[in-house]
Amino acid sequence: MLDKIEQLDQQSAADLAAVNSAEDLEQFRIKYLGTKGAVKGLMGLLKDVPKEIKPQFGQQANALRQKLQGAFDQCKASLGDTGKAKKKASTIDVTEPGVPASLGREHVITQTIDDLLEVFGRMGFDAVTGPEVEDEYHNFVALNIPKQHPARDPLDNFYLDDPYASDNPHLLRSQTSTVQIRTMENNEPPIRVVSIGRVYRPDEHDATHYSMFHQIEGLYVDKKVNMVDLKTTLVQFAKAMFGDDAEIDLVPSYFPFTEPSAELYIKMQVRDKMEWIEIGGCGMVDPNVFKAVGYDPEEWTGFAFGLGIERVAMRKYGITDIRWLFENDTRFLKQL
Ligand code: DAH
Repeated sequence: MLDKIEQLDQQSAADLAAVNSAEDLEQFRIKYLGTKGAVKGLMGLLKDVPKEIKPQFGQQANALRQKLQGAFDQCKASLGDTGKAKKKASTIDVTEPGVPASLGREHVITQTIDDLLEVFGRMGFDAVTGPEVEDEYHNFVALNIPKQHPARDPLDNFYLDDPYASDNPHLLRSQTSTVQIRTMENNEPPIRVVSIGRVYRPDEHDATHYSMFHQIEGLYVDKKVNMVDLKTTLVQFAKAMFGDDAEIDLVPSYFPFTEPSAELYIKMQVRDKMEWIEIGGCGMVDPNVFKAVGYDPEEWTGFAFGLGIERVAMRKYGITDIRWLFENDTRFLKQL
């Protein structure tokens, strides 16, 4: 009878040595320690054990049970997470088709900004940036925009300070022309830069107006810069951006920071036909602007331009409502 215990001891030791995974271990537990396992079976034999060895048998069977339980616990702990991971891995059906990873894409405004930086970069324009929170000096005063000018109406700007209480109140910039001033304040000519960024105006939102949009500002300052340089640059830009068929037209206009000034129209493919689209303003830098930044207007000349990025993007991609650009509805954005 005591041999049976000895046998079970040896057999269980051999089985335990072969345990490699959580499943093996579970089989081991069922075989030896389960409710119908071998150890329970030993206890069932107790009634047939001769009286004189009963206590010994009981003791040894108990010792074996404890030994096996201890070995099981230890083995379980050492299998630990790998055991669990193996169990999990085995439940994955590798023949399932799987969930396709959805691809992100660049927003159309970002794409347009990249295209513009590339085109102007090839023409030698460096990219610069300026703050979105500006002061009245850089947004208006240094740009030769006088106090009574309608563009300075507090109702048409996002003032952050009381415009009547402060002599240089902060506001969200209403145009990227501010960066012309900041660039010239901090650099000596010659200068050839573009600056792209957000601008803010408290417009009611509709198909063509939004209270935030993007502009690109260009500035070229050197000796003897003239309108032909400006026009050549804009023609090159229009063709690079909209194709060789694109044409430009400069229509005389007025901006306080340029003299002479013009509105820029570009003739481009809009769906099935060519259309003239007004895309921004430009001109020769006004001498007063040079004076504000400490450049001698007798020595330096320059041109500047400012274009609306949304206008460019909407025409290029045939988008008819500016709000779609900022609602972040992926069903719309995915089409571009
Ligand atoms: N800042 C003007 C606007 O927001 C656009 C502009 C016009 C910029 C003429 C210029 C320029 O640099 O020369 O309407």
